[in-house]
Amino acid sequence: MKIAFFSTQPYDKEYFKRYNQQHQITFFEAQLNEQTVNLAKGNDAICAFVNDRLNAEVIKALAETGVKIIAQRCAGFNNVDVGAARENNIAVVRVPAYSPHAVAEHALALIMTLNRKTHKAYNRVREGNFSLDRLTGFDLYGKTVGVIGTGKIGQCFAHIMLGLGCKVLAFDIIANKDLEAAGVAYLPLMDILQQSNIISLHCPLTEQTKHLINSTTLDMMKDGTMLINTSRGALIDTRDAIEALKRGRLGYLGIDVYEQEEKLFFHDLSENIIEDDIIMRLLSFPNVLITSHQGFLTDEALTQIALVTLQNLSDFEQGKKLQNAV
Ligand code: NAI
Repeated sequence: MKIAFFSTQPYDKEYFKRYNQQHQITFFEAQLNEQTVNLAKGNDAICAFVNDRLNAEVIKALAETGVKIIAQRCAGFNNVDVGAARENNIAVVRVPAYSPHAVAEHALALIMTLNRKTHKAYNRVREGNFSLDRLTGFDLYGKTVGVIGTGKIGQCFAHIMLGLGCKVLAFDIIANKDLEAAGVAYLPLMDILQQSNIISLHCPLTEQTKHLINSTTLDMMKDGTMLINTSRGALIDTRDAIEALKRGRLGYLGIDVYEQEEKLFFHDLSENIIEDDIIMRLLSFPNVLITSHQGFLTDEALTQIALVTLQNLSDFEQGKKLQNAV
């Protein structure tokens, strides 16, 4: 099968080349959108990532160039107009689970770094500054952690936090019986917001969850709450989060995803003028930590992403049932 691969990063090439045996892949660094869709010409499939724009216009153009399947090499598919794909007779597949541990452990990394300020300590010590002033953190043991969304990643995260001796509260539209048995209490969202010291978002981006964290929900939180988002940027209204940081309602913000990440993340813009004033304001806070969507970036996850994506495409080519159809 001929596959046009969009938003290619060096690690994508490395892992897909390592595991691909039967497909002919053309790697494009370009993000897929209305301007770049013509690159897909002559291919049967496209392989896309989180910030590729698969709206109705792009999907119609893909159908016209003969593309028959969209293979998302990620779990989320909020960037794909699934209805438009169906109308144009294009199948959509994804990688529903590659390593929930990778993302859950990254959420822990954000918490640990924000709390114990190891990023600041590292820089200080390298410059010969051995002072401990302003590096005080808090014990995670005994703190209350609210997990919003207890699917594959949220479940791993809840177990990690239980292992650290935290009290774990959860909110989801479906309670996970295993977590309840492990001591996690499911409560209404408002109670989670009011009681938690740390809140971590692990639900998908949907119409119901867009801007779930906004001025109203931020006002329900305790002063000094730590908010972690490794899920999707638009779960948080970033302007409201900035106001909450200024007021001290949020004591820490750790994000691996950002609502306007499409133009920024995965690119080296160190020599560019960044026009996004919101992210620049966020970067000015000493208690904000931003990573550029790297939660998935482990050897285990990249291996699984490549193997499952290639298998999805082979199944389609051989007319087999698509296990990971959206
Ligand atoms: P999942 O589908 O296993 O779990 C999502 C959970 O959210 C489910 O339990 C579902 O019932 C719950 N949920 C849905 N709507 C909800 C609502 N309105 N309120 C509360 N809970 C709700 O998904 P998984 O694999 O755990 O992934 C979670 C999210 O993590 C993905 O949607 C994706 O956006 C993000 N992600 C981020 C990555 C990164 O690199 N930072 C990598 C992979 C996923």
